[in-house]
Amino acid sequence: GTAPDLVGRHVVVSAGGTREPLDPVRFLGNRSSGKQGYALARVAAARGARVTLVSANSALPDPAGVDVVRVGSALELREAVTKAAGDADAVVMAAAVADFRPAVYATGKIKKKDDQEPEPLTLVRNPDILAEISASRPRPGQIVAGFAAETDEALAHGRAKLATKGCDLLVVNEVGESKTFGAEENEAVVLGADGSETPVPYGPKEMLAETVWDLIAERLPELPEE
Ligand code: PMT
Repeated sequence: GTAPDLVGRHVVVSAGGTREPLDPVRFLGNRSSGKQGYALARVAAARGARVTLVSANSALPDPAGVDVVRVGSALELREAVTKAAGDADAVVMAAAVADFRPAVYATGKIKKKDDQEPEPLTLVRNPDILAEISASRPRPGQIVAGFAAETDEALAHGRAKLATKGCDLLVVNEVGESKTFGAEENEAVVLGADGSETPVPYGPKEMLAETVWDLIAERLPELPEE
């Protein structure tokens, strides 16, 4: 429901998909539109939270009453999320973050040379932002939630991912070329580190967002008395 149960809280949400630059005109990217992350930000603001939305390459307009920080690459997203997480009560990583980036950034446009095969593309690992924040918990009692985008055996992969990432909640959703990515609806199972499993039926992305904030709100430590 839209109870003002997040009043007095600062929450950070990441949304969209990172772009890993190859040269000034090209990047490696993914199909995230930002809709799920923006729905999380809107719902948190409606429930009274102060919201920082770290948005990677989304075409969506800034939601009213939300602080929006726009970023491009995974490294930029990491810097913005880490900074905002310092005093946050909860962090929700809905962004689709590239696991790898091109090892070399060419400062000039990569040229096609006639009668020469293309150079193979070498990738290096990006930092795992969700795992870093889960391990460091810059604020005591902070709740950290991630998403798992899976194409097959979603629940089995989700359980393994929850353990590796060390977050409190993991929202497991299935994705395809046009499934979930860019869609208005989603369906998911939210796994808790405490063993809980909360299925959310197919419906608007706001509906899943409400359930995620319900699960976070019940895990947050009480606010100190004024
Ligand atoms: O934006 P939409 O079009 O609405 O689509 C929504 C969505 C499909 C993007 C969203 O619901 C979703 O699943 N987001 C997470 C996508 C993703 O990157 O999943 P993953 O399984 O690769 O990563 C698992 C978790 O680790 C995610 O919380 C991700 O933000 C985080 N991660 C991943 C890699 C990395 N280097 N650092 C991270 O923090």
